[in-house]
Order: sequence, then C-alpha cells, then structure tokens
Amino acid sequence: MTTVLASPAPAAPLLDPTCFGVYVHVPFCLTRCHYCDFVTYTGMEGLRGPYAAALLDEAAMAARALGPEPPVVTSVFVGGGTPTLLPPGDLARVLARLRALLPLAPDAEVTVEANPETVDQAVAGGLVEAGVTRVSMGAQSFDDRVLATLGRVHDAARVTAAVAALRAAGVPAVNLDLIYGGPGEDAGSWSATLAAAVALRPEHLSAYALTIEPATKFGRLVAAGRMAEPDEDQLADRYDTARAVLAGAGYGHYEISNWAALGPGEPADVLPAHASRHNLTYWRRGRYLGLGAGAHEFDGETRRWNLPGVPAYLKAVRAGRRPTEGQERLDPGQARFEALALRLRTADGLERAEARVLGVDPSGPNAAELREAGLLAPGPGLRLTERGMFLHGEVVARLA
Ligand SMILES: C[S@@+](CC[C@H](N)C(=O)[O-])C[C@H]1O[C@@H](n2cnc3c(N)ncnc32)[C@H](O)[C@@H]1O
Ligand code: SF4
Repeated sequence: MTTVLASPAPAAPLLDPTCFGVYVHVPFCLTRCHYCDFVTYTGMEGLRGPYAAALLDEAAMAARALGPEPPVVTSVFVGGGTPTLLPPGDLARVLARLRALLPLAPDAEVTVEANPETVDQAVAGGLVEAGVTRVSMGAQSFDDRVLATLGRVHDAARVTAAVAALRAAGVPAVNLDLIYGGPGEDAGSWSATLAAAVALRPEHLSAYALTIEPATKFGRLVAAGRMAEPDEDQLADRYDTARAVLAGAGYGHYEISNWAALGPGEPADVLPAHASRHNLTYWRRGRYLGLGAGAHEFDGETRRWNLPGVPAYLKAVRAGRRPTEGQERLDPGQARFEALALRLRTADGLERAEARVLGVDPSGPNAAELREAGLLAPGPGLRLTERGMFLHGEVVARLA
C-alpha cells in the first residue's frame, strides 16, 4: 500500500498561480461529426450575431466579479464547436473586449479552434489581425475514406490548403488534431496520416484515441451492434506508431495525447516551448474563466459551468446574470486525486515534494512496483514513462 502521510491535504493542492486562462465557447457547427458530443448545434446560424453580443456582456460580468485587480491572463482559448463560423469581425470584437476588460500578458497565447473547411485566406488574415497567436485545426485524418467515415465534411487536401492559408497570413503557431482507431482506418492509413501531418510542420500535434460517446451517431451504431468499439490492442499499436513517428520527426511527447515541435537542442523530456499554455493551465490546476454556452470555469476551489443551450444562455445574459447551470466545490480528497491525475498527464510529472503534498510517497511500495513494471520513470519524483502514459488511469488508481 502507498504510505499516506499524516498532514491533511491543502484545499487547493498544487494550484499553479502563474497561469490564468480564459476559455470562450462557440457552439455552432455546419454538421455534427459522427463521434462528437461536444456542446455544439447545427442549424442555429441565425443566433451567431446575438451570441457574439452576449459573449461581450458575459465577459464584462465575469471581469467585474474578479474585482479591481484581476489576475494577468496568460492564455485565451476560443473553442467549439467551430469558432471560425463566427464572422471574423465578431471574433475580433470578443478578443478586443477581453483585452479591454482584463490585463493580458504581453506574451499571452491566444488560440482559436478552426475547421479546415472554414479557413480561407480572408479568414486567416482576420485571425491574425484579431491578435490570434495559435490556430488549432481539426484535421483528424489525411485519408479521405476515414474522413468520410468520421462524418467530416472536408477532405485531406482542404486541410493542407487551410494550413497554407494560415502560414501565408502569418499565424505564428498551428496545431493539428488527429483521431485514431476510427472505422475504416488501418495501420497503413494511420502511418500515412502521421506522415502527412508531420510534412506540414505544425508546431503542435494532438492525437486522440477515438472514444465512443453514447449520444453520437457512433454511440448509437455501437449500441445497436452495427459497429465495433475500437479495439484496445489496436489503439495501443496506433499510439506506439504515433510515438515513434513523431519522436523521429522532432516532436516532444509532453502529455498523453500531445506533442510539440522541438527547437534546435531543445530537450525532449521537459515541457517544450510549443506546448499548449492553455491546456497546461488545466493540467496544472490553474484558474480559468469560462464564457459561452456550456463553458466551464475554475477559481482554484470551485468549478462552475454555464447552461449549454443557446436560447437559455442568451436569456440569462440578457437578464444581466452569469448563465450558471451548476457549480461544485471539490473536497480536499477530490482535489488531491484530481491534482495527482492531472499532473501525471504531463511529462514533467511531480517533484518528490509535490507528490508528498498530495499524500503519495514516491519511494513507497506502489511507486516501486510501478517503476519495476516500466510505468514510472526512475528518479526521486513521479513521472510516467511513455508506456505509463498509455496506462495513465491504472497508474493513478494504484498511487491514489
Ligand atoms: C471539440 S473539437 C473542436 C474542433 C473543431 N470543431 C474540429 O472538429 O475541427 C476538438 C477535438 O476533439 C477531438 N474529439 C472530439 N470528439 C472526440 C472523440 N469522441 N474521440 C476522440 N477525439 C475526439 C477531435 O480531434 C477534435 O478536433
Ligand atoms: S468535431 Fe468539431 S466540427 Fe465536428 S461536430 Fe465536433 S465540434 Fe463540430
């Protein structure tokens, strides 16, 4: 058994005070992909204008609640849905309002998620003008057959064209999201997808194992026995392929599903400069605001989330209220578990002293067993090996 140390865990263990993020949700999509259960709606294009206006008002309410000396914002992430379905002027106004309301660090990371089919030269130019420093694009695959099976409306050539438009406009950093383990994919098409992604030299790559969510087309097909769930061994093989190809192409694997391009001489075993600062805020239990329908926020102790429906969101904001659906304060045990699980996701893991703050003995028998099994790296603290990253859940359960 892992030794649990006597001192009680603090209420907000290992909260990183150096980051403060703002997440803005844009819940509109052209069509619904077959795997996706994010808060997003099709056929609501008419509400985009009122929604953008409401985001401005909600930002003002959230900023007021932070008091006269709000924290410095280190990252903004406009996610979706498809943020690039908002007219570029609206997106620019939202970002400008955030800058007017809150102090932004001079080197703040400002990411916007974009779908390939919505990015042309004009949109890319608009993003740069609005101060966007990073575009995260859902490529998912470079195999047109796989893209069609996933329910994507673009082909691989469109991804390449969209990245070219972003580069030409001067977007400083590009991330590509990939999904593996989907129907129609085989080892060859996954390798080809990785090679095509790497050839575009994105600064960042995310590769996610397909999860079957019940309230999606895939979820319904699996429930009806008309589609097989992704096979665990096959997912492990795809993950190994991603690790090998991306390491060989000069990407540092700094989080379970995330890789960043390494600069010349940049070591592969620490957090790379091109790591996503916004996502690091989540993994390091930093604080963040959440604006927009269904958005979540965290003030260090309490999680709060917004109403997911657009009409209900608009109604609450128009009535001058934050559109809160719920909130929960984590008890010290939950906070400790969450800190352990989140911090073990990233390659830097936990220092010895940090592990002890969470009540985990990094020299205890459980940690020793996990080291022997090759899931934890040797050393005084707790760091997952590459193999350990794939089995993150099991390792956390064993240490908690
Ligand atoms: C919320 S989506 C927004 C991105 C953008 N709308 C797009 O699709 O291009 C963010 C990413 O989550 C990933 N994702 C969403 N649902 C997933 C699932 N069921 N399994 C694995 N990855 C998923 C996809 O890679 C997607 O690009
Ligand atoms: S994956 Fe992206 S484009 Fe597809 S439904 Fe989800 S948010 Fe919309």
